[in-house]
Amino acid sequence: MTPPIVSSVSETREQLDRVRRAGKRIGLVPTMGALHAGHASLIERARAECDFVVVSIFVNPLQFGPSEDYQRYPRPIEKDFALCAENGVDLIFAPETGDMYASPQITFVEMTRITDHLCGAFRPGHFRGVATVVLKLFNIVQPDFAYFGEKDYQQLCVIRRMVDDFNLPLTTVPVPTYRESDGLALSSRNVYLSAAERAAAPALYRILTLAREQIASGEKDSAIIRSAAMNVLAAEPLIRVQYFEIVDPSEVQPVATVTGPVRIAAAIFIGKTRLIDNVAAGN
Ligand code: PAJ
Repeated sequence: MTPPIVSSVSETREQLDRVRRAGKRIGLVPTMGALHAGHASLIERARAECDFVVVSIFVNPLQFGPSEDYQRYPRPIEKDFALCAENGVDLIFAPETGDMYASPQITFVEMTRITDHLCGAFRPGHFRGVATVVLKLFNIVQPDFAYFGEKDYQQLCVIRRMVDDFNLPLTTVPVPTYRESDGLALSSRNVYLSAAERAAAPALYRILTLAREQIASGEKDSAIIRSAAMNVLAAEPLIRVQYFEIVDPSEVQPVATVTGPVRIAAAIFIGKTRLIDNVAAGN
Protein backbone atom coordinates (compact mmCIF):
# COMPACT_ATOMS: atom_id res chain seq x y z
CA MET A 1 0.00 0.00 0.00
CA THR A 2 1.37 3.45 -0.91
CA PRO A 3 1.93 5.51 2.23
CA PRO A 4 0.25 8.91 2.54
CA ILE A 5 1.96 11.48 0.30
CA VAL A 6 1.79 14.89 1.90
CA SER A 7 2.94 18.06 0.20
CA SER A 8 1.76 20.62 2.73
CA VAL A 9 4.12 21.61 5.55
CA SER A 10 1.29 22.23 8.01
CA GLU A 11 -0.42 18.92 7.28
CA THR A 12 2.88 17.05 7.70
CA ARG A 13 3.32 18.76 11.07
CA GLU A 14 -0.20 17.82 12.18
CA GLN A 15 0.14 14.18 11.16
CA LEU A 16 3.53 13.87 12.85
CA ASP A 17 2.33 15.60 16.03
CA ARG A 18 -0.20 12.79 16.39
CA VAL A 19 2.52 10.17 15.80
CA ARG A 20 4.78 11.82 18.38
CA ARG A 21 1.97 12.06 20.95
CA ALA A 22 1.43 8.32 20.51
CA GLY A 23 5.01 7.91 21.78
CA LYS A 24 6.44 6.67 18.49
CA ARG A 25 10.06 7.19 17.49
CA ILE A 26 10.24 9.04 14.17
CA GLY A 27 12.99 8.38 11.62
CA LEU A 28 13.62 10.74 8.69
CA VAL A 29 15.35 9.86 5.43
CA PRO A 30 15.87 13.09 3.46
CA THR A 31 16.19 12.54 -0.32
CA MET A 32 15.89 14.31 -3.65
CA GLY A 33 13.99 11.36 -5.13
CA ALA A 34 15.11 9.23 -8.11
CA LEU A 35 15.29 6.59 -5.42
CA HIS A 36 17.49 3.52 -5.77
CA ALA A 37 18.83 0.67 -3.65
CA GLY A 38 21.17 3.07 -1.81
CA HIS A 39 18.19 5.10 -0.58
CA ALA A 40 16.39 1.83 0.19
CA SER A 41 19.25 0.83 2.50
CA LEU A 42 18.73 4.05 4.47
CA ILE A 43 14.99 3.36 4.69
CA GLU A 44 15.65 -0.22 5.79
CA ARG A 45 17.91 1.01 8.59
CA ALA A 46 15.31 3.57 9.68
CA ARG A 47 12.62 0.86 9.59
CA ALA A 48 14.73 -1.30 11.92
CA GLU A 49 15.36 1.48 14.46
CA CYS A 50 12.19 3.60 14.42
CA ASP A 51 8.43 3.17 14.81
CA PHE A 52 7.49 5.61 12.06
CA VAL A 53 9.56 6.30 8.93
CA VAL A 54 9.27 9.53 6.95
CA VAL A 55 10.96 9.91 3.55
CA SER A 56 11.21 13.44 2.19
CA ILE A 57 11.45 13.88 -1.57
CA PHE A 58 12.47 17.36 -2.62
CA VAL A 59 14.86 18.48 -5.35
CA ASN A 60 16.27 21.45 -3.48
CA PRO A 61 17.06 24.35 -5.85
CA LEU A 62 19.16 26.04 -3.16
CA GLN A 63 21.93 23.44 -3.37
CA PHE A 64 22.44 23.52 -7.14
CA GLY A 65 24.85 25.94 -8.80
CA PRO A 66 23.73 27.95 -11.86
CA SER A 67 25.46 25.61 -14.31
CA GLU A 68 24.45 22.41 -12.53
CA ASP A 69 21.70 19.89 -13.30
CA TYR A 70 18.72 21.22 -11.30
CA GLN A 71 16.41 21.32 -14.35
CA ARG A 72 17.34 17.92 -15.72
CA TYR A 73 17.67 16.13 -12.35
CA PRO A 74 15.55 12.93 -12.71
CA ARG A 75 12.07 13.08 -11.12
CA PRO A 76 10.48 9.61 -11.56
CA ILE A 77 7.93 10.36 -8.85
CA GLU A 78 5.62 7.33 -9.38
CA LYS A 79 8.58 4.93 -9.20
CA ASP A 80 9.73 6.71 -6.04
CA PHE A 81 6.34 6.25 -4.40
CA ALA A 82 6.44 2.55 -5.32
CA LEU A 83 9.92 2.10 -3.79
CA CYS A 84 8.70 3.79 -0.58
CA ALA A 85 5.65 1.53 -0.49
CA GLU A 86 7.78 -1.61 -1.01
CA ASN A 87 10.09 -0.57 1.81
CA GLY A 88 7.45 0.10 4.44
CA VAL A 89 7.67 3.91 4.57
CA ASP A 90 4.89 5.42 6.73
CA LEU A 91 4.72 8.92 5.25
CA ILE A 92 6.20 10.62 2.18
CA PHE A 93 6.77 14.35 2.54
CA ALA A 94 6.96 15.72 -1.02
CA PRO A 95 6.63 19.49 -0.88
CA GLU A 96 6.45 21.80 -3.87
CA THR A 97 9.22 24.38 -4.10
CA GLY A 98 6.66 27.03 -3.17
CA ASP A 99 5.82 25.14 0.05
CA MET A 100 9.42 24.80 1.15
CA TYR A 101 10.34 28.34 0.18
CA ALA A 102 7.00 30.04 0.77
CA SER A 103 8.69 33.41 1.07
CA PRO A 104 12.13 33.84 -0.47
CA GLN A 105 14.68 32.29 1.92
CA ILE A 106 16.87 35.03 3.37
CA THR A 107 18.22 33.07 6.35
CA PHE A 108 20.88 30.42 5.71
CA VAL A 109 23.07 27.94 7.54
CA GLU A 110 26.64 28.98 6.75
CA MET A 111 29.38 26.59 7.71
CA THR A 112 33.10 27.20 7.89
CA ARG A 113 36.09 24.84 7.77
CA ILE A 114 34.26 21.58 6.99
CA THR A 115 33.11 23.04 3.66
CA ASP A 116 36.51 24.42 2.61
CA HIS A 117 37.75 21.33 0.73
CA LEU A 118 36.45 18.44 -1.40
CA CYS A 119 33.05 19.25 -2.95
CA GLY A 120 32.79 22.48 -0.95
CA ALA A 121 35.75 23.91 -2.86
CA PHE A 122 34.17 23.20 -6.25
CA ARG A 123 30.48 23.81 -5.54
CA PRO A 124 30.24 27.23 -3.90
CA GLY A 125 27.00 27.58 -1.93
CA HIS A 126 26.18 23.87 -2.23
CA PHE A 127 26.52 22.97 1.44
CA ARG A 128 24.82 26.19 2.49
CA GLY A 129 21.85 24.99 0.43
CA VAL A 130 22.05 21.45 1.83
CA ALA A 131 22.38 22.52 5.49
CA THR A 132 19.60 25.09 5.14
CA VAL A 133 17.10 22.66 3.59
CA VAL A 134 18.02 19.88 6.02
CA LEU A 135 17.51 22.22 9.00
CA LYS A 136 14.09 23.12 7.55
CA LEU A 137 13.27 19.41 7.14
CA PHE A 138 14.39 18.71 10.72
CA ASN A 139 12.14 21.50 12.00
CA ILE A 140 9.15 20.33 9.98
CA VAL A 141 9.46 16.61 10.72
CA GLN A 142 11.20 16.82 14.14
CA PRO A 143 12.65 13.33 13.83
CA ASP A 144 14.35 11.40 16.61
CA PHE A 145 16.77 9.86 14.09
CA ALA A 146 17.88 11.10 10.67
CA TYR A 147 19.65 8.85 8.16
CA PHE A 148 22.44 9.95 5.81
CA GLY A 149 24.62 7.94 3.43
CA GLU A 150 28.39 7.77 3.77
CA LYS A 151 28.39 8.02 -0.02
CA ASP A 152 28.12 11.81 0.46
CA TYR A 153 30.71 11.86 3.22
CA GLN A 154 31.29 15.61 3.42
CA GLN A 155 27.52 16.16 3.54
CA LEU A 156 27.28 13.70 6.43
CA CYS A 157 30.01 15.63 8.30
CA VAL A 158 28.25 18.94 7.61
CA ILE A 159 24.94 17.65 8.98
CA ARG A 160 26.50 15.96 12.01
CA ARG A 161 28.32 19.15 12.89
CA MET A 162 25.23 21.31 12.37
CA VAL A 163 23.32 19.02 14.75
CA ASP A 164 26.08 19.39 17.35
CA ASP A 165 26.67 23.12 16.88
CA PHE A 166 22.96 23.97 17.10
CA ASN A 167 22.14 21.38 19.80
CA LEU A 168 19.45 19.87 17.61
CA PRO A 169 17.50 17.20 19.51
CA LEU A 170 18.07 14.27 17.17
CA THR A 171 20.61 11.60 16.32
CA THR A 172 22.29 11.50 12.90
CA VAL A 173 22.83 7.94 11.72
CA PRO A 174 25.48 7.23 9.03
CA VAL A 175 24.71 4.38 6.61
CA PRO A 176 27.43 2.60 4.56
CA THR A 177 27.65 3.17 0.82
CA TYR A 178 25.60 0.76 -1.26
CA ARG A 179 27.45 -0.36 -4.41
CA GLU A 180 26.88 -2.23 -7.65
CA SER A 181 28.77 -5.53 -7.88
CA ASP A 182 31.58 -3.80 -9.84
CA GLY A 183 32.03 -1.28 -7.02
CA LEU A 184 30.22 1.72 -8.52
CA ALA A 185 28.31 3.52 -5.77
CA LEU A 186 24.62 3.84 -6.59
CA SER A 187 23.67 7.42 -7.42
CA SER A 188 20.64 9.11 -8.93
CA ARG A 189 23.07 10.60 -11.44
CA ASN A 190 24.25 7.21 -12.79
CA VAL A 191 21.30 7.28 -15.23
CA TYR A 192 23.11 10.07 -17.11
CA LEU A 193 25.96 7.68 -18.08
CA SER A 194 26.18 6.21 -21.60
CA ALA A 195 27.13 2.52 -21.88
CA ALA A 196 30.80 3.40 -22.46
CA GLU A 197 30.80 5.87 -19.57
CA ARG A 198 29.13 3.33 -17.29
CA ALA A 199 31.84 0.83 -18.19
CA ALA A 200 34.55 3.35 -17.21
CA ALA A 201 32.87 4.49 -13.96
CA PRO A 202 34.10 1.70 -11.60
CA ALA A 203 37.63 3.15 -11.97
CA LEU A 204 36.56 5.67 -9.31
CA TYR A 205 36.10 2.99 -6.65
CA ARG A 206 39.19 1.16 -7.92
CA ILE A 207 41.50 4.12 -7.22
CA LEU A 208 39.98 4.54 -3.76
CA THR A 209 40.51 0.88 -2.88
CA LEU A 210 44.03 1.02 -4.32
CA ALA A 211 44.78 3.99 -2.05
CA ARG A 212 43.26 2.18 0.93
CA GLU A 213 45.50 -0.84 0.23
CA GLN A 214 48.59 1.37 -0.02
CA ILE A 215 47.77 2.87 3.37
CA ALA A 216 47.13 -0.60 4.82
CA SER A 217 50.57 -1.69 3.64
CA GLY A 218 52.25 1.26 5.32
CA GLU A 219 52.34 4.11 2.80
CA LYS A 220 51.87 7.38 4.68
CA ASP A 221 52.66 10.02 2.06
CA SER A 222 49.43 11.45 0.60
CA ALA A 223 51.28 12.82 -2.45
CA ILE A 224 52.60 9.36 -3.37
CA ILE A 225 49.16 7.81 -2.91
CA ARG A 226 47.55 10.54 -5.03
CA SER A 227 50.03 10.14 -7.86
CA ALA A 228 49.38 6.37 -7.99
CA ALA A 229 45.66 7.11 -8.32
CA MET A 230 46.28 9.69 -11.04
CA ASN A 231 48.38 7.18 -12.97
CA VAL A 232 45.50 4.71 -13.01
CA LEU A 233 43.04 7.37 -14.17
CA ALA A 234 45.43 8.60 -16.87
CA ALA A 235 44.63 5.35 -18.69
CA GLU A 236 40.90 6.22 -18.69
CA PRO A 237 40.24 8.63 -21.57
CA LEU A 238 36.60 9.25 -20.55
CA ILE A 239 37.50 10.36 -17.02
CA ARG A 240 38.63 13.77 -15.80
CA VAL A 241 39.56 14.11 -12.13
CA GLN A 242 38.17 17.03 -10.14
CA TYR A 243 39.79 16.14 -6.82
CA PHE A 244 41.45 13.27 -5.00
CA GLU A 245 42.08 14.01 -1.33
CA ILE A 246 43.03 12.22 1.84
CA VAL A 247 41.32 13.98 4.74
CA ASP A 248 40.70 13.64 8.45
CA PRO A 249 37.37 11.92 9.10
CA SER A 250 35.64 14.59 11.18
CA GLU A 251 36.41 17.98 9.63
CA VAL A 252 37.59 16.64 6.23
CA GLN A 253 40.83 18.66 6.19
CA PRO A 254 43.55 17.33 3.84
CA VAL A 255 46.39 15.49 5.56
CA ALA A 256 49.88 15.35 4.04
CA THR A 257 50.90 12.35 6.14
CA VAL A 258 48.60 9.54 7.17
CA THR A 259 49.04 8.93 10.88
CA GLY A 260 45.59 7.64 11.89
CA PRO A 261 42.09 7.12 10.52
CA VAL A 262 41.42 9.03 7.29
CA ARG A 263 38.82 9.28 4.56
CA ILE A 264 39.94 9.04 0.95
CA ALA A 265 37.55 11.03 -1.26
CA ALA A 266 37.45 11.74 -4.98
CA ALA A 267 35.26 13.45 -7.57
CA ILE A 268 35.49 12.77 -11.29
CA PHE A 269 33.74 13.86 -14.44
CA ILE A 270 32.78 11.22 -16.97
CA GLY A 271 31.58 13.26 -19.92
CA LYS A 272 29.24 15.82 -18.33
CA THR A 273 28.39 13.62 -15.35
CA ARG A 274 30.06 14.29 -12.03
CA LEU A 275 30.48 11.31 -9.69
CA ILE A 276 31.84 11.27 -6.12
CA ASP A 277 32.90 8.45 -3.84
CA ASN A 278 34.99 7.85 -0.72
CA VAL A 279 36.31 5.09 1.54
CA ALA A 280 37.67 4.90 5.07
CA ALA A 281 41.32 3.96 5.62
CA GLY A 282 43.99 4.00 8.32
CA ASN A 283 43.46 2.71 11.82
P1 PAJ B 1 20.14 12.34 -2.42
O1 PAJ B 1 21.27 12.47 -3.35
O2 PAJ B 1 18.80 11.92 -2.96
O3 PAJ B 1 20.58 11.33 -1.28
C1 PAJ B 1 19.72 11.10 -0.19
C2 PAJ B 1 20.49 10.28 0.83
O4 PAJ B 1 20.81 9.00 0.27
C3 PAJ B 1 21.82 10.94 1.23
O5 PAJ B 1 22.01 10.79 2.63
C4 PAJ B 1 22.83 10.13 0.45
O6 PAJ B 1 24.12 10.10 1.06
C5 PAJ B 1 22.19 8.75 0.46
N1 PAJ B 1 22.71 7.90 -0.62
C6 PAJ B 1 22.75 8.18 -1.95
N2 PAJ B 1 23.36 7.18 -2.62
C7 PAJ B 1 23.73 6.25 -1.70
C8 PAJ B 1 24.40 4.98 -1.74
N3 PAJ B 1 24.84 4.46 -2.89
N4 PAJ B 1 24.60 4.32 -0.59
C9 PAJ B 1 24.17 4.84 0.60
N5 PAJ B 1 23.52 6.02 0.71
C10 PAJ B 1 23.31 6.72 -0.41
O7 PAJ B 1 21.86 13.89 -0.55
C11 PAJ B 1 20.81 14.42 -0.94
O8 PAJ B 1 19.87 13.76 -1.66
C12 PAJ B 1 20.46 15.86 -0.61
O9 PAJ B 1 21.64 16.62 -0.53
C13 PAJ B 1 19.62 16.03 0.69
C14 PAJ B 1 20.39 15.52 1.93
C15 PAJ B 1 18.28 15.28 0.56
C16 PAJ B 1 19.31 17.53 0.91
O10 PAJ B 1 18.63 18.07 -0.17
